[in-house]
Amino acid sequence: MLELLLPPPVDPLWDLAEAYGADARPERLNLVLGVYRDDRGGTPVMAAVREAEIRLAERSASKEYRGLSGNAAFNRAMLSLILGSGPSADRAVAVQTVAGSGALRLLADLICRTRPGTTVWISDPAYVNHRPILEAAGLTVRTYACTDGPAMLRDLTRAGRDDVVLLQGCCHNPTGVDPSAEDWEAMADLAARTGWVPFVDLAYHGLGDGLAADLAPTRMLAERVPEMLIAISCSKNFGLYSDRTGCAIVVGTSRQALRHAETALQNAARTLYSMPPEHGAAVVTTILEDETLRTLWQTELDTMRARIEANRITLATHLTALGHEAQARTLARQKGMFSMLPLTPEQMLRLRAECAIYGTTAGRINIAGLPTDRVECVAKGMAQVLDAP
Ligand SMILES: Cc1ncc(COP(=O)(O)O)c(C=O)c1O
Repeated sequence: MLELLLPPPVDPLWDLAEAYGADARPERLNLVLGVYRDDRGGTPVMAAVREAEIRLAERSASKEYRGLSGNAAFNRAMLSLILGSGPSADRAVAVQTVAGSGALRLLADLICRTRPGTTVWISDPAYVNHRPILEAAGLTVRTYACTDGPAMLRDLTRAGRDDVVLLQGCCHNPTGVDPSAEDWEAMADLAARTGWVPFVDLAYHGLGDGLAADLAPTRMLAERVPEMLIAISCSKNFGLYSDRTGCAIVVGTSRQALRHAETALQNAARTLYSMPPEHGAAVVTTILEDETLRTLWQTELDTMRARIEANRITLATHLTALGHEAQARTLARQKGMFSMLPLTPEQMLRLRAECAIYGTTAGRINIAGLPTDRVECVAKGMAQVLDAP
């Protein structure tokens, strides 16, 4: 029994512990964590969120238990935000979850409960927590290439009728490279023809090309396939990181199937955490149900998106000026909070050691966490390690 108290083996997920501590030294530029930062380096509460919180505090609603599916108004608001008014919204069910991670885990459990031993395909590279969450739920994981359309489609032709394919709806983490509109269409055709179920992870909608454009592939897929799973995070686009707000959506073919799916999600929630936290869901619902707050939120989201895009363009411009046009072109094509620097792990380590710039060793930086006045220093650091003998 006492063995439980021995130090656990090092978890590869946390091998970036040194970089996580980089904030303690202000001269270091910590671009590891996926958090939006303004030009002063802060992650302020969005004005729409603050206003919603004031209204909620004044209303002083009850903190009574909400139930296993969480806040019903939030679930309705999420269905409408994500699926719009298309027919798929009428054949879908939503359950509030503990953020995007909770949605991924609950949907993974749903797959395992309904089809034990299912294979789920994830991108290579993938969001660092995809494989651990799916495997923890008991699923088998295989990978498909994700940075190039033809290779991705070729790999996905290997997915079978009973498989599930996990796709990031927009702003792919970590690469910043999304499928083209034609690739999404081809994937919808393939899924409809083969029978595999798309499982879309949405964590950055609104931060790529804008909310409508970022949600378009998810909506198109939902119209084209009989069954689909969607994991939604409100952490980034509402700035509700620590309020752990998210939603799991299942699109299905019959009312009975949807009822079964909701019950399976509720059963999974019961054994994992019972009920999701209310505060963030109440905030999101207050914003989405009020025209003024919704407009304010969309404006703020757009400002965040524009700042990310400006950082990326400035970085590419400086890199071009420093003679690294090919790398600049690669960066300029990427979208969302992350950029994958075209550097080797050795070059990323040199960037840390010589320039105090911290990305992951695989090359990912949080471009949304980069102060405008330090973009040039990142370009110069990259040029320095690229030019090194
Ligand atoms: C692709 C992707 N999915 C899901 C999540 C989980 O987000 P949350 O903080 O809402 O659990 C993240 C977080 O970084 C992510 O990048």
